[in-house]
Amino acid sequence: MAATSPASYGGGGDGVGRRRVLMFPLPFQGHVTPMLQLADVFRSRAGLAVTVFHAPVNAPAAAAAAAAAGDYRFVTVGADVAEEAAALMPTGGSGSDFAGALMGLDALLRAPFDDALRHVLAEDAATACCMVVDSNLRGVQEVAERRGVRTLALRTGGACCLVAYMAFPELCGKGVLPPASRDQLQLDMQLDELPPLRLRDMMFSATSTHATMATCLERLLDSARCSSGVILNTFEDLENSDLRKITNGLNVPVYAIGPLHKISIGQESSLLTQDQTCLEWLDKQEAESVLYVSFGSLASMDSQELFETAWGLVDSKIPFLWVIRPNSVQGSQQACLPDGFEEATRGRGMVVSWAPQQDVLRHRAVGGFWTHNGWNSTLESICDGVPMICRPQFADQMINTRYVQEVWKIGFELEGKIERRMIDRAVRKLLCSEEGKEMRYRAKDLKNKAITCIEKGGSSNTAIHMLVNLIMSF
Ligand code: UDX
Repeated sequence: MAATSPASYGGGGDGVGRRRVLMFPLPFQGHVTPMLQLADVFRSRAGLAVTVFHAPVNAPAAAAAAAAAGDYRFVTVGADVAEEAAALMPTGGSGSDFAGALMGLDALLRAPFDDALRHVLAEDAATACCMVVDSNLRGVQEVAERRGVRTLALRTGGACCLVAYMAFPELCGKGVLPPASRDQLQLDMQLDELPPLRLRDMMFSATSTHATMATCLERLLDSARCSSGVILNTFEDLENSDLRKITNGLNVPVYAIGPLHKISIGQESSLLTQDQTCLEWLDKQEAESVLYVSFGSLASMDSQELFETAWGLVDSKIPFLWVIRPNSVQGSQQACLPDGFEEATRGRGMVVSWAPQQDVLRHRAVGGFWTHNGWNSTLESICDGVPMICRPQFADQMINTRYVQEVWKIGFELEGKIERRMIDRAVRKLLCSEEGKEMRYRAKDLKNKAITCIEKGGSSNTAIHMLVNLIMSF
C-alpha cells in the first residue's frame, strides 16, 4: 500500500486526500456501537476519513445518514448472502451457539469482503492506511492482510475478559477445561490462575461445544497477535493490572482508549429506535430513586422469569424503568406482562421497548441498574457512577459480573432461579441499604477516575494520541 505524506492528514472536508481508516464491526449492537464511537474519535480528534464495511444484517443506521459524505463512507458487504447471514444470527439467551454463529458469519463474509475491499482499494489505495477489525472477524482480517492492509484489532469487551480468554488454552492443557462434570462444587471452584473467576465463569455458552469455543477463542487471540495493535474500550485506572498482563502476553502494542462513549461526539449507533419519552418520565422522579432494568441486545428470559421479574418489581415498591426488547421473551415476539401489573405500578414504573441507555444512566434520577453485564452496559454504568444488580447469561457477562462484585465492589450477582422475593430483596438492598450506598460511593469514585483518564494528559487521552501517531506512521 502506498504511503501518504503526513500533509494529507486533515485534508479536504469531502475526505479527498485524507488518510482513511477502514473499519469492520461485528454485526451486533454491543460491537457496532464501540466501533462507530471509535470512528467518531478518529474523525473528530484526528481528522481522519473513515470507511465502515458492514454485514448485510444489523446495518448501522448511520450508514444511511452518511451515505453521501466523502469522509465517512459505509460499504455493505455480502448483500447477496443477506439471507444466510440473517439465518446465522443467534436468537439470544444462553441457548444460542454464539461462538458458532460468530465463526459462521466470519466465514460467510470473507469472500464478499475480498470483493468489496478490492473495489475500495482501487479507489483509495493511496490514502487507505489500515483497517480496524473486530477481533471476532479473524477471517476478514486475513483477507485484509493478504491485500497488504495493516490491521488493528478492536476488542469490544473488557481487559478482564481478554485475560480470561488468553488463559483458556492453558486451562485446557491442565485438564481444568472442559469441566469433568457439571457438579455445582466443581463449577464453583476458584481458578488460581484467574482470581476472582470460578470455573463456571469460563463456561461462555451452555450450547457451544468445547471444540467450537476453543477454536473461536484461538481465532480471536490470533486476531490480536497478528495485528499491529490491540484497541480496548476500557481505561487504565479500571483495569490496570489486566492491561499489563495483555501487553506482556500478546507482544503487540495495547491501546486502552475508553470509555469511548464519553469521548465520541455521540453519532447515532443504536440499531433500534430509542424511546426518548422515558427521559421526561425520569425528570419527574427523585434523585437516585429509580432502578433501571435492561438486559442488552441479545439476552432473553422465559415467560415465567418475566412474571417473577414483574412481581418482584411490584413488591419492591421502588420506581423503575424497564426495557423489554421485542423478542426478549422466549417464544413470543411481544412480551405479555401479568394481569394487574400495570395498575400496581401506575405512576411508579415505566416499560419501554428500547431506551436511550447512556442518557438514562447519566440521569440524576437513576440510582441503580439491573443488568446482564454486557461490557458496554457495565462500562456505561461505571462511568456514570451507577451501582449494579448483575444477572449474566453468556459470553463475557459472567466475567464482568465477577469484577463488578469482587474487584470493584460496585454491585452484586443475583444467582439461582429468578423468583420475586429475591428480586424484591435485591432491589431494596441496592437502592435503600447502607451496603448499596457504599457501592454507589465506590462507583462514583470510578466515574471520577474515568473522567480524569479522558482529560488532557489522562491515560486514555494519551493512548488515543499514540494510536493516531501509529496510524499516521503506516
Ligand atoms: C453482549 C456482550 O457485551 C458482548 O460482549 C457479546 O459479544 C454479545 O453480548 P449486548 O447484549 O449487546 O452484548 O450488551 P452490551 O455490551 O451491554 O451492549 C448493549 C448496548 O446497547 C449498550 O451500548 C447500551 O447502551 C445499548 N442499549 C441497551 C440501548 O441503547 N438501549 C437499551 O434499551 C438497551
